[in-house]
Amino acid sequence: MWEDYFDALGEEPPCISQEEYRVRQSRLFSQLKPNDVILITSNPVSTRSNDVSYPYRNSSDMLYFCGWQDPDSLFFAYCDAGEWKSCLFVQPADTLKEIWEGRRPGLEGAIANWAIDESYSYDDLGTKLPELIRKSTRVFLRLGNDSKVDKIVEDEMKFQSRDRQKFGYGPSSICDPSSMINELRLRKSKSEIEIMRYSAKIASQAHIIAMKNTIPGIGEYQLEGLIEGFFKYCKTSGSAYPPIIGSGENATILHYTENDDICNDGEIILTDAGCEYQGYASDITRSWPVNGVFSEAQAEIYQLVLESQIAGIENCQIGKPYDAPHFAAREVLAKGLIELGVIDQSLEDALSTEGDLNKWYMHNTGHWLGIDVHDVGVYKPNGEPRLLEEGMVVTVEPGLYFGAWRKDVKCPERYANIGIRIEDDVLITPNGPDILTSDCPKTITNIEELVGQ
Ligand code: GLY
Ligand code: MN
Ligand code: MN
Repeated sequence: MWEDYFDALGEEPPCISQEEYRVRQSRLFSQLKPNDVILITSNPVSTRSNDVSYPYRNSSDMLYFCGWQDPDSLFFAYCDAGEWKSCLFVQPADTLKEIWEGRRPGLEGAIANWAIDESYSYDDLGTKLPELIRKSTRVFLRLGNDSKVDKIVEDEMKFQSRDRQKFGYGPSSICDPSSMINELRLRKSKSEIEIMRYSAKIASQAHIIAMKNTIPGIGEYQLEGLIEGFFKYCKTSGSAYPPIIGSGENATILHYTENDDICNDGEIILTDAGCEYQGYASDITRSWPVNGVFSEAQAEIYQLVLESQIAGIENCQIGKPYDAPHFAAREVLAKGLIELGVIDQSLEDALSTEGDLNKWYMHNTGHWLGIDVHDVGVYKPNGEPRLLEEGMVVTVEPGLYFGAWRKDVKCPERYANIGIRIEDDVLITPNGPDILTSDCPKTITNIEELVGQ
């Protein structure tokens, strides 16, 4: 059923190598002093019901620095005689637990197959961690993720030993490492880019499958099943975020995720879905007519959003401010809506903070993309828009949403309940924008050729 779509993906990219994890770690260590220690916590396990947990996903920073996927873990690094040591606290091997919960690499497996120098049992955190941090001065730790770790570090700061008084040992401050880490994660390496390209290809094929299977009467949930089925077929860990599959007026609700309605003849369906492949997200939106043919009114809005998206993508250039695509897309949308008679204002007024464009386009045009779908990285360091650099990946996703159900505005009748968003994932390169999601059709002709086929 999925073979042809799978074949279209081409060769699978290799996993992040141990060497690459080491490079990431050493870039972090190079920003620290010899008396510092750094701790990267794991995500907690969340209960779904009674003794059933949600599928586990480790913290993005843990995945970034060593790729460890299991819970009850802690990445820890300290400097010993000028050399940084990477350590991992992990769940110890335990046959009884493994019978119920699955195999564990254990301490030996961790050392053998992950980019670390020392491994410890997470069960020994309470005794081993204080020992390891006792001689440090600054502890780099993002508080609030693992309360067990937070408590140990706090207790260690309060602990007044004789040695501490005699030699001045002991941690005296907790520093948040997020800004250092986020800067590293913002610029993608060659292997990260290849993994993201593959993730984007999977999501593109999933949208093609959904387009081909769209006919009046199909359930949004059925299209969701097809998309998520293909994600699983491709050995992803599933959706990178809850998919948005909204037909008719649901397409005008930005974060609609119920996906429990029927797609009716004459409606637009908006599908925002991406997968997580080897820990990296893709994020695509396409909008198409349920019956396979755009009405004149639908085509007017679709073409306008498409032109604004193309203008946004053209601005994904090295050296341009990160929000240049947003301003370019907004300008095209505002001009177009004035021409269509939807906005009765000057271009300047339409684009102003209080302008009428905000009635129909109320979100930003993109965000960083990476391990997190809304990836880390400050947009305005020191208050100034960051300039785009090679290796950054952004989404470009303008839209127009004419919710006829809204009480705050009067929706133009011609465009009632038309919701269109078009979203691609774009890599910044010296040769201009590289659209990772370019396999996913977006012209009116290409979409009409596919829908219902
Ligand atoms: N899917 C979430 C977003 O587009 O930002
Ligand atoms: Mn999206
Ligand atoms: Mn997005």
